Amino acid sequence: MSAQTEETLIVVKPDAVRRGLVGQVLGRFETKGFAVKRVLMITMTRPQAEEFYAVHKDKPFFGELVSFITSGPVVGAVLAGRDAVATVRRLVGATKSWEAAPGTIRGDFGLGLTDNVIHASDSAESFAKERNAFFKS
Ligand code: CMP
Repeated sequence: MSAQTEETLIVVKPDAVRRGLVGQVLGRFETKGFAVKRVLMITMTRPQAEEFYAVHKDKPFFGELVSFITSGPVVGAVLAGRDAVATVRRLVGATKSWEAAPGTIRGDFGLGLTDNVIHASDSAESFAKERNAFFKS
């Protein structure tokens, strides 16, 4: 009933950029039928990462998360398509990559938790905040 065209944000994390997986990761979404509306490679500053991950600021892993996401270049992309937030997160798979189902991006490409290949917005509200933080420059 809510299968409307919408936008979401994915960020290919430093582990996946270092391993040369950007093309394969973006390709998964293109193959599925999403339109890539915007792409940017950056190395996030600490303030930018703290804003990007603000929802996790009280979590015990926040420091590790910010250090990791600022450790090298990342690639952010705005994707558009049907029910994009939920559909993209299904393609991404479980947060713990070692538990992620085969066929998902984390299930096929990673074994980590902090270094879990990719981030995807978990709601329309998160998308709006994360897009603003990511494309600030
Ligand atoms: P991501 O989808 O980018 O959202 C927040 C990130 O925090 C998550 O992926 C993980 O990479 C990272 N993280 C680190 N430790 C934990 C944890 N214990 N539980 C959940 N996420 C964690």
